[in-house]
Amino acid sequence: GLQNSRDMFSKAVNGGYAVPAYNFNNLEQLQAIVQACVETSSPVILQVSKGARNYANQTLLRHLARGAVEYAAELGNPVPIVLHLDHGDSFELCKDCIDTGFSSVMIDGSHLSYEENVKLTRQVVEYAHKHDVTVEGELGVLAGVEDEVASETHTYTQPEEVEDFVTKTGVDSLAIAIGTSHGAYKFKPGEDPKIRLDILAEIEQRIPGFPIVLHGSSSVPQELVRTINEHGGKLKDAIGIGEDQLREAAKSAVCKINIDSDGRLAMTAAVRKVLDEKPEEFDPRKYLGPARDALKELYMHKNIHVLGSNNKA
Ligand code: G3H
Ligand code: 13P
Ligand code: NA
Ligand code: ZN
Repeated sequence: GLQNSRDMFSKAVNGGYAVPAYNFNNLEQLQAIVQACVETSSPVILQVSKGARNYANQTLLRHLARGAVEYAAELGNPVPIVLHLDHGDSFELCKDCIDTGFSSVMIDGSHLSYEENVKLTRQVVEYAHKHDVTVEGELGVLAGVEDEVASETHTYTQPEEVEDFVTKTGVDSLAIAIGTSHGAYKFKPGEDPKIRLDILAEIEQRIPGFPIVLHGSSSVPQELVRTINEHGGKLKDAIGIGEDQLREAAKSAVCKINIDSDGRLAMTAAVRKVLDEKPEEFDPRKYLGPARDALKELYMHKNIHVLGSNNKA
């Protein structure tokens, strides 16, 4: 069955790699994720956002994720699979996911005051641990286009707060803000596209071996942006996190790396190309099939060359 993230994270921290956390909203994304992780023999975290629940219905998503466990076995490699709530924003949402079979949840109290964040996170941890569900908390605020109130600047995680936070809340992992952000526009043109690995190192000194999570870790491959734009798209100045920096982070206590936008780009590039080059096609399988294959290839690349999670299942 689905498992929680505890074993997965202790192995990743000790093994110097990170487990991929890929978002899914539909069947083709799920198939691509499972196929890629089966072929590279990687553990995987399937993430469901609040937006995904609204789009696809959480009951259907949950059954897809449970089906993924069987599907991986059918493909000949029963890799460990976690079903995780991404960016839970209330106790009630986390509780609902726990009650209906998620094996891991994130409570994102990063926009609250420190004290309120501790209190809410603690409340979720107490409920989750009674059900053997693991919890991810967050300290520091990611800048991003997806925020309702777009924060112009990053509020980096303060290393002096992390020990107190993990002790008081009892979380199993901690998401930190070190310069990553959600979406396909992470840096402005001309800006130095660097994340603060120095802050990560300081955090690690305060809580040695504690599982760290990086959100907003898409690399925005420029060939995908080019393909999209060559086939009618209009993405301007889309910039991501360099894969070399993520590979460096994965060697540390960073044990979960969240990637969603790159998958969206890969699918969109494939769909645009097919519809542009074969205007006579109208069977969704003829464009969603190639999109799924492109997504699988992207995730295999991530597992092998960015996270180092291949052969760790
Ligand atoms: O954290 C953001 C993830 O990419 C999920 O995005 O809320 O549009 O599903 P979403
Ligand atoms: P990206 O937008 O960089 O893919 O980040 C995804 C994420 O953090 C999901 O929680
Ligand atoms: Na790691
Ligand atoms: Zn995120």
